[in-house]
Amino acid sequence: MGRGLGAAATAALIGLAALAATSAAEPAKPAGKEVLPVRVWDIPSVERLPDDERGRLARYGRSIFEATYAHVGPEVADPAKRFAGNNLACKNCHLNGGFKKFGLPVIGAAADYPAYSARSGAPASLVERLNGCMTRSMNGRPMPAGLTEMRALVSYLDILSTGIRADAEVIGKGAGRMPELARAADPARGRAIYADKCALCHRSGGEGLRRGLPGDALGYLVPPLWGPDSFNDGAGMNRLITAANFVHANMPNGTDWTAPVLGVEDAWDVAAYVVSQPRPHKADLAADFPDKLAKPIDTPYGPYADGFSEQQHKYGPFGPIAAKVKALDAARK
Ligand code: HEC
Ligand code: HEC
Repeated sequence: MGRGLGAAATAALIGLAALAATSAAEPAKPAGKEVLPVRVWDIPSVERLPDDERGRLARYGRSIFEATYAHVGPEVADPAKRFAGNNLACKNCHLNGGFKKFGLPVIGAAADYPAYSARSGAPASLVERLNGCMTRSMNGRPMPAGLTEMRALVSYLDILSTGIRADAEVIGKGAGRMPELARAADPARGRAIYADKCALCHRSGGEGLRRGLPGDALGYLVPPLWGPDSFNDGAGMNRLITAANFVHANMPNGTDWTAPVLGVEDAWDVAAYVVSQPRPHKADLAADFPDKLAKPIDTPYGPYADGFSEQQHKYGPFGPIAAKVKALDAARK
């Protein structure tokens, strides 16, 4: 991948297009980081890898990514393999196998680790980051680094980082950043939007639509959004800013970030309705983010260092919190 003027100019152009089409509130790029477009065509497809140890492991990893419930879910035959606590799949959130722009892609993710984790206050390896999703998004227990299923997932993620350097910023990461509301997001208003735009697929009780029968380890055609078989309250998707942007850029399923179906206000309110619903509880959440000023402002559980209520951290408005956190952070430096 060249570092010449051509590549840089192309990256800048694509970057500008992405910025213009998302919003003016796009977070500033970290200083000094080269911005790279997502060149998915440079990533080898796992089918085409040779039939050797690496190729087989990466293909197994993709299978676990797409059908997590069938390999390490709570209904698999071997109790020792039951690591996930729910019947979701990684790809329910990391859309299109982890390739979708603003659909929480994991392209380039492996290249970023080890990285400092604000959540634990210590450096995290890729295995530890992956286990963050196992214990929160998948409401399960950590998989050991040497477990074949973990090695397979890591191998799949490694393939998805082919040609992407650790210092590169991949365009389309995360779920985007639409403008924030000046008011708190409103779950009551969101409830009506849910009935109109989501319930057809995710069902009126948020329970989703199973592919088969409970106990058969076949997972979901449409994943649940709350209730006992969903992500727990410590998951990233349980934070309103993440959930609202994800929904805006990707839902109803099939939506692309270039052509959102929901208006900005509707996306905030329907996501507020989703995060207001009951879900499994993760123990010891108060220990997350030992540096409370590094806690994402939409973390829906305390303690906080900024004096704002749990209610405001959960539903916004976020502007006043962000300003206070910034001032407190500047004051201690
Ligand atoms: C309920 C939704 C959900 C599910 C299911 C889920 N994740 Fe995640 N995952 C997230 C969110 C949200 C993030 C944080 C993205 C961010 O910070 O922008 C994340 C982050 C990650 C990252 C770090 C990405 C990066 O760029 O640093 C990896 C790796 C990852 N997940 C892997 C997995 C794997 C493997 C599975 C399945 C075992 C999984 N996830 C299941 C929601 C989910
Ligand atoms: C056409 C059916 C359909 C509609 C309508 C739809 N979704 Fe989804 N949704 C899906 C499917 C299918 C997935 C999983 C995607 C995958 O695995 O590729 C998903 C995934 C999700 C996820 C991440 C996975 C999880 O379990 O949390 C969230 C959050 C979500 N949808 C919220 C919504 C909201 C809110 C609405 C209404 C605005 C909505 N969806 C409308 C089908 C739909």
